[in-house]
Amino acid sequence: MWLEKQPLTEVLISKKELAQKVEQLGDQITRYYRGKELFLVIILKGSLVFAADLMRCLDLPVTIDFMSISSYGNGSISSGDIKIVKDLAADIGGKDVLIVEDIIDSGNTLAKLQSILQKRHPNSLKICTLLDKPSRRQVDMQVDFCGFTIEDKFVVGYGLDFAEQYRHLPFIGVLNG
Ligand code: IMP
Ligand code: MG
Repeated sequence: MWLEKQPLTEVLISKKELAQKVEQLGDQITRYYRGKELFLVIILKGSLVFAADLMRCLDLPVTIDFMSISSYGNGSISSGDIKIVKDLAADIGGKDVLIVEDIIDSGNTLAKLQSILQKRHPNSLKICTLLDKPSRRQVDMQVDFCGFTIEDKFVVGYGLDFAEQYRHLPFIGVLNG
């Protein structure tokens, strides 16, 4: 099989663990936003799988939109110099906005995105990430909803890629290297 030949050293988070955590996050977010309408900003492409599962665990009125950003940087750490590849179609002014991210590493990308979205005057702007690697953080940032805190390992699957590969894996695995 194709998967058996891939350089994945371990399954870090199983399909079942992901499903349980996403359900917990959904409950937490539902309680936090109760009585409000939530606007999800889904960051392509990495958050696609997570967001699709998460939104089905929200017992709230929810609308969604997508944004695609690329970050420039030399080496493995992003610089925070970001380019909007695809912007939101909707106006977020006055809305309760939750950014859905796959992983926060240095935090540079998200810090820049936060400041861009804040200028559009949402009623509130918060962050939900599936994974967090706090040991790599370069900027101060408050993560409002977080699935798993992980060590400094390069992970793929459940939306996350290496060179555009592995996004479709139903678990989070550690890539050898
Ligand atoms: P940051 O600006 O350094 O926080 O970069 C965050 C982005 O880097 C994420 O949205 C991912 O696209 C990518 N990234 C960081 N760590 C990993 C990883 O372990 N696997 C896959 N992508 C990662
Ligand atoms: Mg990404």
